[in-house]
Parts: sequence; C-alpha cells; structure tokens
Amino acid sequence: MIARETAAIPSFAREVEEGISGFPKTLPCKLFYDATGSELFEEITRLPEYYLTRTELAILEEHAAEMVRAAGQNLTVVELGAGTAAKTCSLLRALTRRQMRVSFFPVDISPAALGEARERVSAECPNVSVRPVVADFAEGFGFLRDIRGRKLVLYLGSSIGNFDPESAVKMLSQVRRELAAGDALLLGTDMVKNPSILVPAYDDTQGVTAEFNKNVLRRLNRDLQADFDLDAFRHVALWNPIRSRMEIYLERLRTQMVTLRLLQLTVRIHVGERIHTENSYKYTLPMAHEMLRDAGFNLERSWFDECKWFGLHLGRV
Ligand code: TRP
Repeated sequence: MIARETAAIPSFAREVEEGISGFPKTLPCKLFYDATGSELFEEITRLPEYYLTRTELAILEEHAAEMVRAAGQNLTVVELGAGTAAKTCSLLRALTRRQMRVSFFPVDISPAALGEARERVSAECPNVSVRPVVADFAEGFGFLRDIRGRKLVLYLGSSIGNFDPESAVKMLSQVRRELAAGDALLLGTDMVKNPSILVPAYDDTQGVTAEFNKNVLRRLNRDLQADFDLDAFRHVALWNPIRSRMEIYLERLRTQMVTLRLLQLTVRIHVGERIHTENSYKYTLPMAHEMLRDAGFNLERSWFDECKWFGLHLGRV
C-alpha cells in the first residue's frame, strides 16, 4: 500500500504563505485564538498591566442604568463576539429593572464559549432569556435581520482596535445596514494614553503576552508542520504614535531557515527581522466619533473611567 500524506490543509494556509514569504513579514491575527491561545488571552485579561478588561467592566458596572436608559425602551440585546459574556450581566440586570422581558442574543464563532455564556447569564440574571447565535462575521451580519424588536448591539472589549480604521468602518457599516432607525450600538474603544501605560499592557513582566504571541508559531508548527524554534523569537510591542496603535511583532534572534512542510515552503528569516502579528489601535474621542459617523451612526454619548483609559460609545442609527 502506498502511504499518502493526508493532513488537511487549513483554510488560513494561503494567508500564511503570502504573509510569511513577503516583506515585511506578517501573519494573520486569526491564528491567535486556538484553545491554548484563548486560555492565554483569558490569562492576559487578569494581568496587572492589562488594564483594559477590568476598566471596561468597571465602567459597565458603574453606568449600566444610565446606559440602558440612554439606549431606549423595550430593547433586545445582541452582543457581537460575546465569548462567554463575562462583562454583559450588569447591563442585562439594569434592563430587567426597566422592562418585563429581556432577550439576549450572544453571537460568537465558538459554540463552546456560547454554552458558557448561556450558563453564566442564566445563573446571574434568571429573568433574561438567552438565545445564542453561532456566526462567523466573515459571512456578514444577516442574522441581525432575523432578530425582532428594537436592538441594542454591543461590541465590547477593544476588538474594534484590531481592525485598521478603514476596515473598522467597513465592518460597522455592515452592521449598520442590518439595523433600523432607533436601534443603537454600544462600542468599546481603548483610548490613547501615555506609552508607559500602553506598552506594558502588551508586554507584561510575567511573559504571558509573549507566550500568547509565540503561540501563533506553535500553531503553525502543529497545523502546517512547520519547524519554528520558539526560543529563537523575541516578543516585541511598540507604540506607533503616528498610526495611533500598538504594534505586536515576533523578532528573530538569529538567522535561520524555517520550513512549513504542508505548504512545501522554506523561508529564510534574518536576525532582527520582525514578523508583524497584530495591531491594536487606540482612539481619541474625535477618532471614535469619526469612525461611528463614517459607518452611519450618530455618537450620542460616551462613558469613561476616571482616568479616561477606556471608552464606551453609544451610536444611534
Ligand atoms: N483585542 C486585544 C487587544 O487589542 C487583543 C490582545 C491583547 C493582543 N494582548 C495582545 C493581541 C497581544 C496580540 C498580542 O488588546
């Protein structure tokens, strides 16, 4: 019998091939979130340096009542990229105090995360009816049309910051197109601040973020039968004030050939050469205003923490 290689070529193979053979080298950020990556990210959200998650949660807890009052009456809540919906309960609870029935549609690509979301919300807000939606945003936002009533769409975290400004507007416009007059969007943005706060948030002393970044290479080793030596790379996080973003790289410590067997590809990566793995854009209020306006939303109100490190913006259709 002839032994044949039967390993399936993953859908991201072409993107990896293009990114790793080009110059400057890049890798698609979707590689971050396999099971290990998702766990490492959870760990990042608990790091002392990573102020984002806890700051946003505090804003939501403090202003939930005001937020739902400003958003309108008889709302159905839809959360894009809900994950396990760990930040949503204060808003949902505030809503149950204002209306008889609250429906919550957490939307995510991961059925496992949605299962957790359902359990969490059912336990913490028993009066809310949870209806998980499994969807890949690459396929559009058509699912929004099937949800009836006036909608409050949540896009929390700083995920919008992982899009280039043009792509962010494109994505929000797509959402906007599925909404009706009176519907609202509550959008989280991490705000521009001193680099002495920003840089450690993406380069912590325990090295969890470095592990998270290098996990991308571990994934290529596994899924594309590559031979990246993880110790030959250094995690780099830089603030780019001109583009208003944190830039995340993997920098090569010595020149070496790397082979990606499934792609039948060998590349030379030089000492000091950087592979760009992610951007995280930081917004000012005028930038957030412009982004929402360009996507067809009217910015009605923003909420911040005391230091103005993180913002939640209410955009109206
Ligand atoms: N959305 C998160 C952010 O931009 C993702 C993230 C946190 C991240 N730390 C990272 C992405 C380090 C790449 C590398 O804050």
